[in-house]
Amino acid sequence: MSGVEVVVKDLSKSFGQANIWSDVTLTLPPGEISVLLGPSGTGKSVFLKCLIGLLKPERGSIVIHDTDLVRTGESKLYELRKLFGVLFQDGALFGSMNLYDNIAFPLREHTRKSEAQIRDIVAEKIDMVGLAGDETKLPGEISGGMRKRAGLARALVLDPEIVLFDEPDSGLDPVRTAYLNQLIVDLNAATDSTFLIVTHDINTAQTLPDNMGIMYHRHLAMFGPREQLLTSQDPVVSQFLNGRRRGPIGMSEEKDADEQAAEGTDDTQVELPELKPQIEPLNGMARKAADRRMERVVGMLPTLPERAQLAIVSSMSEEQRARYGTEDGAGQRVVAGANIAMPGPGARRQAGHALADGDVADVARSRWQPPSSREGR
Ligand SMILES: Nc1ncnc2c1ncn2[C@@H]1O[C@H](COP(=O)(O)OP(=O)(O)OP(=O)(O)O)[C@@H](O)[C@H]1O
Ligand SMILES: [Mg+2]
Repeated sequence: MSGVEVVVKDLSKSFGQANIWSDVTLTLPPGEISVLLGPSGTGKSVFLKCLIGLLKPERGSIVIHDTDLVRTGESKLYELRKLFGVLFQDGALFGSMNLYDNIAFPLREHTRKSEAQIRDIVAEKIDMVGLAGDETKLPGEISGGMRKRAGLARALVLDPEIVLFDEPDSGLDPVRTAYLNQLIVDLNAATDSTFLIVTHDINTAQTLPDNMGIMYHRHLAMFGPREQLLTSQDPVVSQFLNGRRRGPIGMSEEKDADEQAAEGTDDTQVELPELKPQIEPLNGMARKAADRRMERVVGMLPTLPERAQLAIVSSMSEEQRARYGTEDGAGQRVVAGANIAMPGPGARRQAGHALADGDVADVARSRWQPPSSREGR
């Protein structure tokens, strides 16, 4: 099993007169981990519900396996829904059922598997989330973190190709959140499924995903590789990702002009902290999506802002530098129109450092080209 691509284009959702968001366009790359952030009430949960077909957007498309699930009929939608596993915010376990029966529930509802087969699958998933031995406990008898993990086991029991997590880390202490995030990365390595995670946790956002997006003010403010958002100087993105009070986002979503003026100088001048490293799977596992992603982001490198380009090249291993032709510090400039080029091997230690304006670094034998020379071919 491996993840599938989810292509969302120009999606808009309203309830009656109330527009929640418009023109949301993003692609969840197969097997990659993406995170969706945004102030409370901006419609992140509504977005997840649109993806699984529980809510119907009035415009746009969501294409999975060549089917647009906004326009498809009920029976096809029912089939497509089986591709999804969803971890709801509170785990959404049945309080009167023990963990075993909770986790077995989707198998009993949606498959014709025998109880013996169900026992094997439930045991495997329970083991995966570290709850072996707790099968007979009721949800009320276990901690919040255990309930989340049980919810995760239930979300995974049908081997979904796409897993949606709505605030898996809400209400967890930092240590449990760290364990859960590690578990999510390990699961991703084991399944190669496509993950979309809604979170308010900045540390999760900084360390978990391959890609991230921010919902703000009735639209998707930005969506792209983690390095693009984490190095972004866009006021909304940078305020949110650094958890600052100062910036365009206020307590009730948007500050008015007076409030912003009263704050004085803008935050884009703030020096951004170094990029935290992304969480790696444990036990020597490798994420299949990691190589595909590197291929993908190298392809889009010329379209990204300078800081993002630098952060991506800085995050490459020596082997990747060799493969993509950035192991040698001499040669031609790579990215036309940008005051940047790629650092040589020694530059890895400077991950997250931006070049000063006007600085130009050189690199040899890169296989990627500025967009203008691509068009000429
Ligand atoms: N079924 C519904 N009918 C009408 N309005 C709805 C419905 N579901 C959500 N909304 C509205 O859509 C808006 C976005 O809600 P949503 O739950 O998606 O926010 P969110 O970004 O997930 O917020 P939070 O971070 O607090 O979970 C809210 O104003 C909410 O009241
Ligand atoms: Mg929500």
